[in-house]
Amino acid sequence: MSNVKELAGRAAAELVRDGMCVGLGTGSTVHFTLVRLAERIRDERLRITGVPTSEDTERKAREFGIPLVELGAVARLDLTIDGADEIDARFDMIKGGGGALLREKVVASISEREAIVVGEDKVVERLGVRFKLPVEVVPFAAPVVARALAKLGAAPSLRKRADGATFVTDNHNWIFDCTFAEGITDARALDGALKRVPGVVETGLFLGLAHVLFVGRADGRVERREK
Ligand code: 5RP
Repeated sequence: MSNVKELAGRAAAELVRDGMCVGLGTGSTVHFTLVRLAERIRDERLRITGVPTSEDTERKAREFGIPLVELGAVARLDLTIDGADEIDARFDMIKGGGGALLREKVVASISEREAIVVGEDKVVERLGVRFKLPVEVVPFAAPVVARALAKLGAAPSLRKRADGATFVTDNHNWIFDCTFAEGITDARALDGALKRVPGVVETGLFLGLAHVLFVGRADGRVERREK
């Protein structure tokens, strides 16, 4: 069986053109995009600058020789390539499995195009049935936010690291992973309600942000879908 993440991640790297400023997403699928971009920089002398969406991606990009620029130095990005935890037919997504949702959403917000790279298992009919929705919160507010999340129909669990310590984001916040008994029926209403809770920094609902989708399939094909 092909590596569905590698297929999708590498295919999307072909969207990048000489001179582009590119948002670099986070995760194990985007890892293959970074590998392919590094190859193109070496083999084709491709000239790009990248804005990383996490400290992890920043480290990898430096290691692979992808030139980086500070977010503050750019007003817009030509393209961002990022992963997703779930994506539906409208290209609405749950992201944040890797904990980088806040920086990913900021970078997406200034991108002309957002390309998403996933294996076929990430394409779903309804968001939130299989994957929990990450919600990034200010640590001080966590107990208050947990009660508010429950009132909105979520069962929140504080994200932990493998060693049992509380997971801390690159922005020094915490994450509640939220289960919804029936999945997410109205993502826009839920996103609005979550953002009105004081102490919520960002949600993993990425709505109307993706333009093109690369789906790696187990039979070795990559399906490209445009919004
Ligand atoms: C990180 C993310 C990732 O893009 C998402 O979790 C997908 O990761 P992977 O490609 O490793 O499955 O949103 O915050």
